[in-house]
Amino acid sequence: MSILNLIRPELLAITAYIPTEDNRRHRLHANESPWSPIVFQNLALNHYPNLKDQERVQTLLANCFAIKQDELLITRGSDDGIDLLMRVFLRAGIDSILQCPPTFSMYAFYAQLQQATVINCPLPAKAGFDLSLDQLIASWTPNCKLILLCQPNNPTGNLLKLDNIAALCDYFTAKAVVVVDEAYIDFANVPSATTLLGTFENLIVLRTLSKAYGLAGLRLGAVCAQAHLIRALRNTLAPFTLSSVVMALAEKALENREWFSENIQRIVRARTEIFTQLQQLPWIEAVYPSQANFILLASPYALALMEHFANRNLAVRDFKTDPLKNMIRITIGNDLQNQALMNALNTFKPM
Ligand SMILES: Cc1ncc(COP(=O)(O)O)c(C=O)c1O
Repeated sequence: MSILNLIRPELLAITAYIPTEDNRRHRLHANESPWSPIVFQNLALNHYPNLKDQERVQTLLANCFAIKQDELLITRGSDDGIDLLMRVFLRAGIDSILQCPPTFSMYAFYAQLQQATVINCPLPAKAGFDLSLDQLIASWTPNCKLILLCQPNNPTGNLLKLDNIAALCDYFTAKAVVVVDEAYIDFANVPSATTLLGTFENLIVLRTLSKAYGLAGLRLGAVCAQAHLIRALRNTLAPFTLSSVVMALAEKALENREWFSENIQRIVRARTEIFTQLQQLPWIEAVYPSQANFILLASPYALALMEHFANRNLAVRDFKTDPLKNMIRITIGNDLQNQALMNALNTFKPM
């Protein structure tokens, strides 16, 4: 059975909207305005975006993620990709997703938007938030179409072994799609699950330019999968989702590949330093080893610490419910921000 059979049947048969010819001199086909109120980098903002520009950005992204161009669908950040997958695979009121909390909260959010059930396979804090494959398999039910894995996981920062991802894809062949959200993979010294794309038809990898690529404001990401699945997903997209401005800026930003590797290196270096310093503070109960650009810590003084940070103009992320109660997630910043963080930690008096 092809993985396409997991797609909502009415969407498999949908006719994609294909914009009409747009490269003639006199554009009188698209009900655009002949004038634009602003000029920005020679872009004709009165015109709908040019599909050739989108193809160029697609080639650039495919190169970044070391996959083929037809294995990639551009999205407005990976949030947009998560939403798309929920809408394409899940029948409202019938299907479900399987996720491993604590994890990225938007998986459950988009599943709820689609009226899908959320099945949880919790990651135990006591076991360092490591996933048990047996437990995940035992939690699955036949109408569960999407299994969401966050690699490394937000907010715990830990990783699944690539072999385990492969084992899950193998186990769920023709039963469910394994979605590996690699928003933070560039900070981890491990191969991407995209290296498994040729082997598994039921694997989807989500990538984004929002983290290591430093382009969260552009809203650009990608759904990566085998070409026939990408074609089926593309058929369900609205036309012109990416603006001409975003594409022009992305082309410019992606020219400089060295910037990205340097950015990753400096964040990873700072992560190691901050991790070591956090471990030395006696009132911090646990510091979780992280392969992402953040570190999760646990302290009985989390509430007071949050206030202490706020008084010093420092924003970090706390959590209100178990198992993350009393835990704080800190993003690795630049030297100035990291120094402000360490100064705040070193002046904190637990009471
Ligand atoms: C695990 C994870 N996935 C996806 C996203 C969404 O990223 P974006 O939509 O900016 O690509 C985030 C954002 O924080 C995230 O933490």
